[in-house]
Amino acid sequence: MMEKIVCESYEEACCTAADFFAQQLKRKPDSVLGLATGSTPIGLYEEFVSRYQAGEMDFSRARAFNLDEYHPIEATHPQSYKTFMDEHLFSKVNFAQTRIPNGEAPDPNIECAKYSADLEAAGGLDMLLLGIGHNGHVGFNEPASSYPLEAYKVDLTGETLEANSRFFGENEIQPITALTMGIGQIFAAKHILLLICGASKVEITKKLFEGKLHTDIPACFLLLHPNVTLVIDRAANGG
Ligand code: F6R
Repeated sequence: MMEKIVCESYEEACCTAADFFAQQLKRKPDSVLGLATGSTPIGLYEEFVSRYQAGEMDFSRARAFNLDEYHPIEATHPQSYKTFMDEHLFSKVNFAQTRIPNGEAPDPNIECAKYSADLEAAGGLDMLLLGIGHNGHVGFNEPASSYPLEAYKVDLTGETLEANSRFFGENEIQPITALTMGIGQIFAAKHILLLICGASKVEITKKLFEGKLHTDIPACFLLLHPNVTLVIDRAANGG
C-alpha cells in the first residue's frame, strides 16, 4: 500500500519527510537508514541538521547505508557521493556508523559483495529514502531487462549521465559506471520514503502511477511494496 502526501512546496515536502525519519529514530534509535544523494534530499538533510542542532533528532545509535556511488571515483572528488554526504550531512550530525559503496575499490565486484554483507549484518534497512531519476531509476538501478537483487556494478545510461553532467566541470571526467544497492535490498526495506519534487519529475511520476507495472521503470517495483510513503510536491504532482 502506498500512502501519498502532496505538499505545497519543496520545503514542506522536506519537513514532512523529516518528520517520518524523526519518528522512526524516536521509535527505534538504532535504526538502519538508507540514504540517497542528488538534488532532492538536500533540503531534507538541512532539516536533519537543524533538528539535530535543536536536540530534536539524535543519530548517535543510527547507522546509514547510502544507495550508490560512482565507480571509479576518488572519495575526495568533489562529485563523489562520499563528498556529498560528508558536506550535507555526515560532518554535521552524529551517526554511529556510515557506509557508502567505495568508489575507490580496485575490484568493484568484491566491494559490492562486501557492501551486501555489511547491509545484511546490520539487519537490513528500517527506513529507506529514495529519489527517482527521470528515467525511473532508483539508486542507480537503470532501466534494464533484469535487475540484480544485491549490490552490483552498473553501466549508467546516457540519460542519467546527461542529467548528472550538470555537476561535473567541463574538464572533469564523469564516471560512466557506478555501484548500487540492488532491487532486492531496496525492496527488503521495512519502510520506504519516496521523495519526488520539482516539475521535471511530472512525466516519470505520471508513468509510475499509471496503474501498470512497466518493467523498464525500476521504480515500478515500489508499487508492490507493502509500506511506501510517497511525499511529493505539487510541482511534481502536476500542479
Ligand atoms: C542518488 C540516487 C538517485 C537519485 C535520482 C534523482 O543516490 O539514488 O536515484 O535519487 O537520480 O536525483 P535528483 O534528486 O537529483 O533528481
